[in-house]
Amino acid sequence: MSLRPIILHPDPRLKKVCPQVPAVTDEIRRLAEDMLETMYDAPGVGLAAPQLGEMKRLFVMDCARGEVEGEKPRPMVLINPEIIWQSAETSTYEEGCLSIPEQYADITRPSRVRMRWLGLDGQTHEEDFTGLWATCAQHELDHLNGKLFIDYLGPMRRQLITRKMLKFKRERAKQV
Ligand code: NI
Repeated sequence: MSLRPIILHPDPRLKKVCPQVPAVTDEIRRLAEDMLETMYDAPGVGLAAPQLGEMKRLFVMDCARGEVEGEKPRPMVLINPEIIWQSAETSTYEEGCLSIPEQYADITRPSRVRMRWLGLDGQTHEEDFTGLWATCAQHELDHLNGKLFIDYLGPMRRQLITRKMLKFKRERAKQV
């Protein structure tokens, strides 16, 4: 396993639609392990393959971060995920993104989604996600379609965040 650098916004790789993963190979298994390690190290609750420059339809998530007593870690790997049902009811969470550090915004999404995906075991899985899991799953699926949480904001707010990120990247480049 290895930690990999996370691509920061703005970057054209974060704006692309990723193609399906044709089969669960050793390469995909290694990538999923790297993604989980990189996500936990960041730390974050979700990470999508294009954030590491891997243009493939998979993401990892674990929203069980020990904030609820007795909650065990639950690393999940979702390959070729799709939403097969979503609730009309919505909820609003303050979202952030490992590709847009230190920037947060309230985003409204369906409060419950049913997802279907291919697991590392080669089997099709289906599950209903609620709460933070539902928000995270939708945020990560958006990454596979080249969409960021700031794309839900108005143009003024989005441009402000993008300008801050350009400054952040310039300053970081100077430090290296
Ligand atoms: Ni993100």
